[in-house]
Amino acid sequence: MFLGSRSSPKRMAAAVVATLIVGTMLTLLLTINPRPLIQTRQARHTQNFSPSVIPDVFSVHPVFNEIEEVKHDDEYAKIPGWPYGLRINEPDTCKDQDVYLLNTITSNPTQIYHRDLIRKMWRSEAISRRLKIRTVFIIAAVPSAVTQRHLQEESDKYGDIVQFDFLETRRNLTVKSLAALHWFRAYCSNATWVLKCDVDAFINFWALLDVLRFAEGSNDAVCARSKTRSVCRDAHQMGCMAHYVVEPWEYAAAVYPPYCQGYAYVLHRDLVDRMLQVDRNRTSPPLFLEDVYVTGLLPRDLDARWFDVR
Ligand SMILES: *[C@@H]1O[C@H](CO)[C@@H](O)[C@H](O)[C@H]1NC(C)=O
Ligand SMILES: *[C@@H]1O[C@H](CO)[C@@H](O)[C@H](O)[C@H]1NC(C)=O
Ligand SMILES: *[C@@H]1O[C@H](CO)[C@@H](O)[C@H](O)[C@H]1NC(C)=O
Repeated sequence: MFLGSRSSPKRMAAAVVATLIVGTMLTLLLTINPRPLIQTRQARHTQNFSPSVIPDVFSVHPVFNEIEEVKHDDEYAKIPGWPYGLRINEPDTCKDQDVYLLNTITSNPTQIYHRDLIRKMWRSEAISRRLKIRTVFIIAAVPSAVTQRHLQEESDKYGDIVQFDFLETRRNLTVKSLAALHWFRAYCSNATWVLKCDVDAFINFWALLDVLRFAEGSNDAVCARSKTRSVCRDAHQMGCMAHYVVEPWEYAAAVYPPYCQGYAYVLHRDLVDRMLQVDRNRTSPPLFLEDVYVTGLLPRDLDARWFDVR
């Protein structure tokens, strides 16, 4: 909470600029009701998890959509060292520009309303250019021709969609975050930071940029860090949910290493490179718990310096 309650003359000035550019909505958030850096939400693996947080795409419009298999097409552009193709790409997002932070927002094809809300707040070119932030939505594929057509139209209109050709499922969320990191290194390699956030997380960018000024090291990362937690083996166990039951063959130890709340974390590009090197050594699918795998297991032995922003 400390971040949200800080208010220096500089921040107030920043808030005024935001007022002019983004309008009253953002002003309210920044000045009248200062928020923490990242809106805190319950950890995904605790009993308070709300199932609506990650809607399962397949349950959304099963009846009205024409089924079209998600194919792995060799025509799609590929990022070296990453098996999945890019169905929709925005290769020029960072090209020849001075970008400080790439904001990758993981989203699913049907969350148009969420994306529009974020665009309204952040697609003001002036504000993102001044802060040197670029935003892309990282999306996987659904077996529906109609949804795909809508997504393509959205992409034509806004130019901020990056779609990979793996299947959009809850159990592929880890793959999606890894895809975001690979895309960052392939297409925005000069940016210092990558932010991975969920489409429904609220980020106070002014506060975040304040923190990043103190975190310039190549091992640095910012997130709401959790302590070690015990592994959920049985849905009837206290604090477990069926979604988060992990079999011993998926993860053998009884506790997870410390990890970040998965809805938002910021990583230095050099740390990302080393995390992806560790990931290359894996011989089976990654643990499906995205936050545990990406922010706990991958960097476990990398001496990352975590700025805990809770
Ligand atoms: C990154 O910076 C280098 C050196 O300034 C430049 O040559 C290169 O084109 C930049 N890459 C991108 C993707 O903008
Ligand atoms: C993840 O995506 C791949 C590629 O589309 C698919 O074959 C696989 O079934 C998905 N995995 C899970 C666990 O949903
Ligand atoms: C990958 O595995 C090899 C062989 O086990 C090991 O030598 C290497 O250090 C590993 N690399 C990383 C980045 O973990």
